[in-house]
Amino acid sequence: MPALFPGFGGAIVSRLWTGRAWCAKLAVMPAPHTAEIFLDPHFTTGEVDPLLFGSFVEHLGRCVYTGLFEPDHPAADAAGLRTDVLALIRELGVTMVRYPGGNFVSAYRWEDGVGPADLRPRRLDPAWRTIETNRFGLGEFTAFTRAAGLEPMMAVNLGTRGISEAGDLLEYCNHPSGTTLSDLRGAHGAPEPYGIRLWCLGNEMDGPWQVGHKTADEYGRLAAETARLMRMIDPSVRLIACGSSGSGMPTFGEWESTVLSHAYDQVDYLSLHAYYDPDATDQASYLASAQDMEGFITDVIALCDAARARHRSTKRLSLAFDEWNIWYMSRQRPGQGEWPRAPRLLEDVYTVADAVVLGSLLITLLRHCDRVTAACLAQLVNVIAPIMTEPGGPAWRQTTFHPFAQAARYARGQVLQLHVASPTYETPKYGDVPLLHATAVHGEDGVLTVFAVNRDPAASLPLTVHLGGFRTAGPVSHSVLADDDPAAANTMAEPHRVTPHNLAAPVVENGRFTATLPPLSWNVIRLPLAAAH
Ligand code: AHR
Repeated sequence: MPALFPGFGGAIVSRLWTGRAWCAKLAVMPAPHTAEIFLDPHFTTGEVDPLLFGSFVEHLGRCVYTGLFEPDHPAADAAGLRTDVLALIRELGVTMVRYPGGNFVSAYRWEDGVGPADLRPRRLDPAWRTIETNRFGLGEFTAFTRAAGLEPMMAVNLGTRGISEAGDLLEYCNHPSGTTLSDLRGAHGAPEPYGIRLWCLGNEMDGPWQVGHKTADEYGRLAAETARLMRMIDPSVRLIACGSSGSGMPTFGEWESTVLSHAYDQVDYLSLHAYYDPDATDQASYLASAQDMEGFITDVIALCDAARARHRSTKRLSLAFDEWNIWYMSRQRPGQGEWPRAPRLLEDVYTVADAVVLGSLLITLLRHCDRVTAACLAQLVNVIAPIMTEPGGPAWRQTTFHPFAQAARYARGQVLQLHVASPTYETPKYGDVPLLHATAVHGEDGVLTVFAVNRDPAASLPLTVHLGGFRTAGPVSHSVLADDDPAAANTMAEPHRVTPHNLAAPVVENGRFTATLPPLSWNVIRLPLAAAH
């Protein structure tokens, strides 16, 4: 089905997505269209929490085994971690990592993954129909987070297990010593507590696919009581209750209200999950996926604040978008034989178009940084991931690596409230959508960064940025991720096919500059600022 892109001023572009090839046909010559951004240093949304640049490691496919952990690999360190992957993780700028699932956690026994590796049991993982050897567990995960400089976010199993096992896991991880479980950690080679601060109370418990799936009342009660015990054991923990697995869940809204009616006082965050499928929808709407994320976030804020009012509480819940990404779900193939070990699952190859959409999703998270204070790109290695590896072979960056790395690096500081004027295009799912999607961050390094996506696959978009009270102190730079072929991707054979490159630097004149955003592009425009007087 061709998707129509009626651009501002009458540009009509018809595009067909045929496998991996884009075919474009300009039907009407566009009248010139431009977009504008108006900035003001006084109007800010809030400070970006570094936890916004989290990711996710699940025992799923090759995320762990032959992804980040491969003891026989030539680049493995003494702990079995791939140092080539660690280097890419550092370059990606990830700050925090969720573990061990995902659907996997809902049937997981954490005790299987501690102690001497050769004594650990092999188990069925019913969530992904694979064999789990438990060669990698809690100790290995902690070694990984320390080597990569990441804050851990641990999920407890509230599917097949409950309050008591969650308490045991927390005691094993965080209690200093002098109890059987904390001393067991010492006997396993870790006398110092792990000090894990962030804890997810289960995973996607609203989903009928989840092992131990629950009703909102069942889960709300269990989450509240698990949280109470965990806080008794370690009052410093920050707890995340499961929200909906997606805005399209039939129970969305009701789930949040019911869960929070039980657990509002006990938790710090409510989670959101969202995946966007490039195949399952029309391309015009796919490029506007951020519209769904935007609506989802504002709805969940409303649900949290309604619960706050009902609880007469002064506490405002934060949102943890602890799974988000692009996922070619409709391409998923069933099983690779029965119960394989670390099979190739969900190894999506991302295109330039996907990187632009991912950039747009990042812009949405930043625009809500006052309430979304933690987020996890799901996942980190091989499984719908920005980093790919070959067993015994190289590691490389997917297209989506680049927007994430640039945002993680430059979006540190105050997000500004922008006034944006943009031409729009029509989408079947979201109606009229702006061609320009943007945010700006007044960096703690004294640099202003504008992140901007041009959603138009056919035409460049001239963008004028009005700097308001900002004064520049040096030349502007303009980095872009775009390609003549929006289906271009990075592969093992061609790992650097798609990378950001610099365009001619826009010049600031009379308190504004104009940059040209190429068709279907992710743009990072940076301006060093003069110190305010
Ligand atoms: O990230 C892949 C899967 O997506 C996770 O295991 C699950 O939580 C979600 O449905």
